[in-house]
Amino acid sequence: MIVLWIAPLATAADLPEGPGRDLLLRVCTGCHKPDSFAAYRFTKDEYHAIVARMAERGAQASGPELDRIAEYLAKNFLKVEDPAKLNINQATAKEMETRLGLTAKEAEAVVAYRERHGDFHAPGDLYVIYGVDGAKIEAAKDKIAF
Ligand code: HEC
Repeated sequence: MIVLWIAPLATAADLPEGPGRDLLLRVCTGCHKPDSFAAYRFTKDEYHAIVARMAERGAQASGPELDRIAEYLAKNFLKVEDPAKLNINQATAKEMETRLGLTAKEAEAVVAYRERHGDFHAPGDLYVIYGVDGAKIEAAKDKIAF
């Protein structure tokens, strides 16, 4: 019987050549289709966190190999952040003060709320925070990224 082993090559066409590509195909395609990776957009830190989570789920690779996979994904499928916007899920209280015009107390309240409830997903999530002036959030909402 002749076995044709061409499918992975054909479906990985969206993955540019580069260090880490072969590792990705070896380690990660047990659960994901090879062509699914090109659709993702994450920051480099996020990719590193994701591959660590995938190792917990069962991806078979050493730490340095996971790092190479994360670097490959970050190089090719990076989320481009708008420098004019502040990522409210990563910002410090100080940044919220200077970039969004919040008082120190308001900024602390946002950080405390985030620590208790997790990431924000939309400006509306910020209106419910006790002690934060909703009008300021409204005025700053185009400067906030999630
Ligand atoms: C054992 C099966 C398995 C393996 C192997 C695996 N994954 Fe996953 N992956 C999943 C599952 C299940 C999800 C969806 C649930 C989740 O996010 O944990 C997922 C989700 C993802 C996501 C979406 C993450 C998000 O936060 O939305 C990315 C990106 C990803 N995997 C990349 C990888 C990479 C890169 C590898 C190789 C290092 C890999 N996966 C190996 C099972 C796997």
